[in-house]
Amino acid sequence: MAAGAGAVEGRTLHLRAAGVSLVVDVPATSVPVVVHWGADLGDLSARHLADLVTAGRTARANNDLDEPQPVRLLPEASWGWSGRPGLSGHRAGAAWSSRFVPTAVEVEEGSAGGRLLVECADDVAGLRLGIELELLPSGLLRHRATLTNAGSDTYELADLALSLPVPEVTTEVFDLAGRWAKERIPQRRPLTFGSHVRENRRGRTGPDAPLVLAVGTAGFGFRQGEVWAQHTAFSGNHRSVVERLNNGSTTLSGGELLLPGEVRLAAGESYRTPWVFGAWSDRGLDGIAARFHEHLRSRPHHPSSPRPVVVNTWEAVYFDLDLDKLLELARAAAEVGAERYVLDDGWFRHRRSDDAGLGDWYVDEGVWPQGLHPLVDGVRALGLQFGLWVEPEMVNPDSDLARAHPDWILRGGDRLPLPSRQQQVLDLGNPDAFSHVLERLDAILSEYEISYLKWDHNRDLVEAGSGPVRAPGVHEQTLAVYRLFDELRRRHPGVEIESCSSGGLRIDLEVLEHTDRVWASDCIDPLERQDIQRWTMQLLPPELIGSHVGASPSHTTHRSSDLSFRAGTALFASFGIETDLTRLSADDREELARWVSLYKDVRGLLHTGTLVRADDVDPSFRVHGTVATDGSDALFAVVQTGTPDGSVPGRVRLPGLLPQVEYEVTAQEPGHDPAVRGGRDLPWLVSGVRLTGRALGAVGVVAPAMQPQQLLLLRVRRV
Ligand code: DGJ
Repeated sequence: MAAGAGAVEGRTLHLRAAGVSLVVDVPATSVPVVVHWGADLGDLSARHLADLVTAGRTARANNDLDEPQPVRLLPEASWGWSGRPGLSGHRAGAAWSSRFVPTAVEVEEGSAGGRLLVECADDVAGLRLGIELELLPSGLLRHRATLTNAGSDTYELADLALSLPVPEVTTEVFDLAGRWAKERIPQRRPLTFGSHVRENRRGRTGPDAPLVLAVGTAGFGFRQGEVWAQHTAFSGNHRSVVERLNNGSTTLSGGELLLPGEVRLAAGESYRTPWVFGAWSDRGLDGIAARFHEHLRSRPHHPSSPRPVVVNTWEAVYFDLDLDKLLELARAAAEVGAERYVLDDGWFRHRRSDDAGLGDWYVDEGVWPQGLHPLVDGVRALGLQFGLWVEPEMVNPDSDLARAHPDWILRGGDRLPLPSRQQQVLDLGNPDAFSHVLERLDAILSEYEISYLKWDHNRDLVEAGSGPVRAPGVHEQTLAVYRLFDELRRRHPGVEIESCSSGGLRIDLEVLEHTDRVWASDCIDPLERQDIQRWTMQLLPPELIGSHVGASPSHTTHRSSDLSFRAGTALFASFGIETDLTRLSADDREELARWVSLYKDVRGLLHTGTLVRADDVDPSFRVHGTVATDGSDALFAVVQTGTPDGSVPGRVRLPGLLPQVEYEVTAQEPGHDPAVRGGRDLPWLVSGVRLTGRALGAVGVVAPAMQPQQLLLLRVRRV
């Protein structure tokens, strides 16, 4: 038997928070077992907890182990687990199968939630395992594990991931896929025997990251059904899995995806997994989103100031940088009410196109003889904050940096990785490369009054080898980038950082521990954005998601749309503008200024309230909104995305309001006047209506017969 067995007394723990119960059995002889994760069970006596454990013991099956085994947080083959093991690794072929026993247990119980720390050992394999499991006040759960090599020779780690059991009532799997400019495409399938495995080897979170991997009862939707969801919080390679074994046991697991030889633990060294989050809801995907949003909003560093109206230069001028033009754009930005001006790509040495210059983080003296000062000063004199684009992890082979330090490029061997956007990736695990990038960014942030960095990352990591033998370097690169963010934030605490990666390709909860908002997509066509935002908000609250009003036709899809559809779509996130304002007509500028003014009026509501998405009855039609946490106010968008089959729409339900409260529903200017088919005047819109939250949620109001790509804003206020 492994040493340490019996060092702790077995016990069963019950943590509760925000309508969630987590019951964990910590036996003396194995890693903990999650007995229940889901609905709040109320106060349970020690006897009831013990009986809950007993009630969960399965019968022995024919031709199976003599003693049935529960699903452990770290499933181990030594307990007869026939599914994906929690730990894979070896010491030159030995120590490949573990049997951990607890050596110390620490419990911190709070008024809402709590924390369990279990230290385990396997003295035969020479390994120590630390398990952290927390129930947070939002009702979210999170876990991670730390593996330490307590032996004298190297332990080669292949995989480490904890597993959470979910009950047999789950029959469907839901997650997200996607591609550049169409990130976060929902997909759903029956939950059957076997595994649904989502793996990412891009070296960044990716357009097709599941974001949330959810399982639930049949037909679960936005507002109904019981759902268990998982998010793996990591910006490098990662894996999320739902697995159902032939005995019906179903688990959610997630963690980092390690490349061969990427983590080789010398004696005494440790590896820690990313945090993996779990969310349970008995009111569908909105309930899952609410838990993530509440958790994110409770972080001490969550943005607390009003999210400013951004004007970004990218789709306005691209690489065509000219001081007079940029200042003219800044004046136009100030006129419509913008509050932050972001100079996107193109300002540094050799950067006249995306072929060259990445790595040369000096203001280009040819274009900017006086540095960026005239622009920064001009922008700030207009009362706007100044923001700057950077892409610090990257290097163009056509750059002074690559010519001086070709060895700083991540590569698998002698050959360079295949190019992508003509660029390669700097090896930030190399301390010299790391220091150089840090020094350059620090110098720029020290010289100029910069409030904001748009931090881009425009390629996948391919054959990302590091160090003398070019060993896989994604793990170290990912941690190094986190350190780089942190050190810059320490030196320049006032600077906000946006995580952008070819649009929305680096969106996860760990990058948001080091940055302040994300760019959801390079596609700002409002029709695509309706979907992209709807699903990005499955994880993130709207104040963390950048959304800009672009040009018509859209630069990414060439689809045309009304300004009201573009602005009414961007409104529901962190609002901005990304088009050449100087070329807009006076009417359009005036209309845009009205949308900016509305955003300023409602951002307090939108950025603290509860996200509501009505379950769709017609695929050409959407209803979403935000309800104030005290239920006194709400803003809904009734969105016609396509052409409906029916001649006139029926009622749309406005869910999420307080049932007993009487509300007045009115059209909200300037989103009050969509293009319609047939008659304009809906009787209730002309006269206004007062209805209870219960009636609005259960019956609703008739929607106007809108043309495709139109939206109507509804303000719903407590009378
Ligand atoms: C990709 C980003 O997603 C865009 O918004 C823009 O910043 C370009 N890079 C600039 O090269």
